[in-house]
Amino acid sequence: MNTFHYINKKLFCDQIPLEKLASEFGTPLYIYSTKRLRENVNRLQTAFDALNPQICYAVKANDNLALLQLFHKLGLGFDVVSGGELHRAIQAGANPEQIAFAGVGKTDAELKLALHSDISKISVESAEELDVLNRIAGELNCRPSVLLRLNPNIAPKTHHHIVTGNAESKFGIAIDLARELRAQNWDNLNLRGVHIHIGSQIPDPTPVLAAMDVVLDFLEECPPNWDIFDLGGGFPVAYRPELVPSSFANFAQIAANRLARFPRPLKLILEPGRSLIADSSALLLTVQISKQTGTHRTIVVDGGMNTLLRPALYDAYHHVLPFHEKNKKTYPTHIAGPICESADYLARDRHLPDMSRNDRIALLTTGAYGYSMASHYNAHPRPAEVLVDGDSYHLIRRRETYTDLDSRDIIP
Ligand SMILES: Cc1ncc(COP(=O)(O)O)c(C=O)c1O
Repeated sequence: MNTFHYINKKLFCDQIPLEKLASEFGTPLYIYSTKRLRENVNRLQTAFDALNPQICYAVKANDNLALLQLFHKLGLGFDVVSGGELHRAIQAGANPEQIAFAGVGKTDAELKLALHSDISKISVESAEELDVLNRIAGELNCRPSVLLRLNPNIAPKTHHHIVTGNAESKFGIAIDLARELRAQNWDNLNLRGVHIHIGSQIPDPTPVLAAMDVVLDFLEECPPNWDIFDLGGGFPVAYRPELVPSSFANFAQIAANRLARFPRPLKLILEPGRSLIADSSALLLTVQISKQTGTHRTIVVDGGMNTLLRPALYDAYHHVLPFHEKNKKTYPTHIAGPICESADYLARDRHLPDMSRNDRIALLTTGAYGYSMASHYNAHPRPAEVLVDGDSYHLIRRRETYTDLDSRDIIP
């Protein structure tokens, strides 16, 4: 059964009616299904079982501590890209051995935190960063394991904001430069392998395979102690109901075939974010205003780009379901937020039933890059988050208050 489904015309998350959650906790409200989270992790682990990868969940997708702890208990490590994410992974119980630190602009303070925390791997994204890390590691008298994040110059077909592996991209080191860096002496660094992440929401594995070819050719020329290959994240998610959820097995088979031709065993790392969490979640919203705007109805709800930025940032599609299944008559409709920006739409040009003040809707597939990109813009407190577990549920982040908004300001 789908995570979000109607029973007697009422929308449920697993066994819990959404109306109950919205009434108890208010809206906007992010909810997550434990069942779906577990299933996603299990599908990925099973698909890649033969390659025995270290799966490091990409914390940037959603850094709620309760969710991180759930992933930790399911055996995942963490991919972090800031000191804050590193701190939260450790707060959630992660063992530093299970943490990999990437990120294109790490500060000295973040690098020192990584070294003090003794995390297992640091991905370095430029020649300058390699120099800085070598110096800091010398000062702290340690020798971290380092991966070079390579830029294989391959651009997959996806939204230009989530392409990271083409030559112009700020991410990673060009292969020729990586060859030069590899030949140099890095007294305080233990260079162990390579890292790529060519982008997200990549619909077919062809560009991933092309990037693997480039990177494995590079790795083949490296000394045998270069034995780690971090393939990044990016597995696609079926944001639209007509799409089939991604098959991890297909990617796993392709990776296995390619790695089987490599002359020595490699330790594989994966960094999935959205594919583990996006479809476990819905964002619950309450209608404030419904008005006719030209050819469309515009429904203004109580959360917008401040709550879920993806539609405004990437033109992302999130499917909309009313809490109550209504009669079949629908109208061309836009869903807009309350923010004073003309980009503040959550969904455009949908066919939805008539709705009026206090009706509620759910936006689906909002678990990844939803809450983690939420802001206080227009001084809206950020929403609450609830984790559904079968027939029970738990508040896992309280709603912010106006006092929270003021709490860090200092009036001199
Ligand atoms: C280096 C790196 N790894 C992993 C991810 C996770 O990607 P996704 O959520 O598409 O799986 C990202 C996303 O930006 C990334 O930059």
